[in-house]
Amino acid sequence: MPNIAYVNNRWTSLASAKVNVEDRGFQFGDGVYELIRTYDSRPFHLTEHLERLKISAAEIQIPLRDSISKLEKIVHTGCHKSGHKEIKIYIQVTRGPAPRLHAFPKQVRPTVVMTFRKLVPIADAVRKKGLSVISVPDIRWGRCHVKSLNLLPNVLAREQAIQSGAEEALFIRNGKVTEGSGSNLFSVFGKTVITPPTGPYLLSGITRELILQIGKREGISIIEKELSFRQFKEADEIFLTGTTLEVMSVVKLDQQPIGGGSPGPMAEKLFRLFKKQVKNVPMPRNMPSLSRNLGYT
Ligand code: PDD
Repeated sequence: MPNIAYVNNRWTSLASAKVNVEDRGFQFGDGVYELIRTYDSRPFHLTEHLERLKISAAEIQIPLRDSISKLEKIVHTGCHKSGHKEIKIYIQVTRGPAPRLHAFPKQVRPTVVMTFRKLVPIADAVRKKGLSVISVPDIRWGRCHVKSLNLLPNVLAREQAIQSGAEEALFIRNGKVTEGSGSNLFSVFGKTVITPPTGPYLLSGITRELILQIGKREGISIIEKELSFRQFKEADEIFLTGTTLEVMSVVKLDQQPIGGGSPGPMAEKLFRLFKKQVKNVPMPRNMPSLSRNLGYT
């Protein structure tokens, strides 16, 4: 089964996909991205991801040439061509290739890249064990709601976590917790779940939003509220959400055990409810015969 790529209307194998070295995504990180996954060949909340991509692109003034429905079709085509059941789909849209000057080029065509590769789901053993995390100062810019390609602070934070024997880093800004380097965060106090509100200092995660909806539907109290790092450390439970993490318990923060030092009941319950929802994802409306016209064999 191939890992494949789509670059500006052309399909290739992932290994042979190329972009111009003058592309502003490469030169400046001047672009935005999304990660979407499939469950049993079905892209999960594809429209929501593409709508967020459109918002991110608009925030940095990149005109998305393709409509959401065209992008949806390309994603479905890629899933079909790749043939994997569980797929990690990255979409990157950059301002495009131009001689290197900071200001926007007068004439430029955005670059659209999609990659489709086999996704290896997180093992049950990892989930049962839970994650260790560290806290780091949030040195990112003031527009973290934009899913931008500029990920240096996230990369450095994650690397620091790995080097200290942990798996994820949580950002602290002005004494308050914001989010992880690649995840949103939740804390549990008794029967109440608290997560920081959306705004310029965190990404409005699709998984985060689903957990809020599940909470509302199931009568679980989930509050969006700022939380000081001092309060956060005292939580009975901490868990993270994200497209590939789904709902993942944190059992250690800065070397100190959280709750009992093992995954807690609220995260387990929300994970179970989340997985139930995953089963109900509808089949794509337009599973393509489109692929015949797109040139990749
Ligand atoms: N990132 N916050 C940040 C900073 C993230 O990078 C991500 C996801 C999330 C969770 O968003 P969602 O639930 O929509 O996946 C929150 C993906 C996994 C990535 O960059 O690969």
